[in-house]
Amino acid sequence: MIHWPKDNARKETWKALETLYEQKLCRSIGVSNYYQKHLEELFVSAHVCPAVNQFELSPFCYMPDELAFNQRNNIQVEGYAPLVRGWKKDDVTLNEIAERYGKSTFQLLVRWNIELGAVTIPKSVKKARIQENMEVFDFSIAPDDMQKLSLLYDNTRVAWDPRDFF
Ligand SMILES: NC(=O)c1ccc[n+]([C@@H]2O[C@H](COP(=O)([O-])OP(=O)(O)OC[C@H]3O[C@@H](n4cnc5c(N)ncnc54)[C@H](OP(=O)(O)O)[C@@H]3O)[C@@H](O)[C@H]2O)c1
Repeated sequence: MIHWPKDNARKETWKALETLYEQKLCRSIGVSNYYQKHLEELFVSAHVCPAVNQFELSPFCYMPDELAFNQRNNIQVEGYAPLVRGWKKDDVTLNEIAERYGKSTFQLLVRWNIELGAVTIPKSVKKARIQENMEVFDFSIAPDDMQKLSLLYDNTRVAWDPRDFF
């Protein structure tokens, strides 16, 4: 994957990845931190569509149009930092909803990504937390709770905002 859409390098970097793909040295190629504007730019000269786009995805930085644009173009979204590194663990809405499902706020955040059709990559160095973060396939979040969670947007990000790279 291209890690960041660095403005002076993204076109030639994608071309290099396409060469590796066409030579069958890579099974699939993708991008990271690409928003619609970056993808539209890529589509102008690309021969291969990215298989995956990894960008930050939590209710706190959720941009529904960006998710939809990837899905319309058959690019698998992979959401990183789904747990917002724990910064939001005391959020009142998160806690209220998580408690109703009998889940932790961390599990709720992982499941929220899955409900959106994203692949998600929560990270922990602790075995018990890795286990906890995996136990998200025995419940689903009701549409009205998804709506409530999506309203938590406040542009909190653990990494840079890709819009700074337009
Ligand atoms: N493409 C990009 O530009 C980009 C940018 C940033 C991150 N990423 C990737 O995204 C992945 C995850 O991102 P991230 O590590 O920044 O954020 P994250 O997964 O949202 O949060 C990880 C933090 O949450 C803690 N944590 C995990 N599970 C927990 C639980 N059940 N209860 C309490 N605390 C818990 C971890 O602490 P402990 O380890 O102590 O449990 C760690 O400090 C990584 O693989 C990273 O490489 C990609």
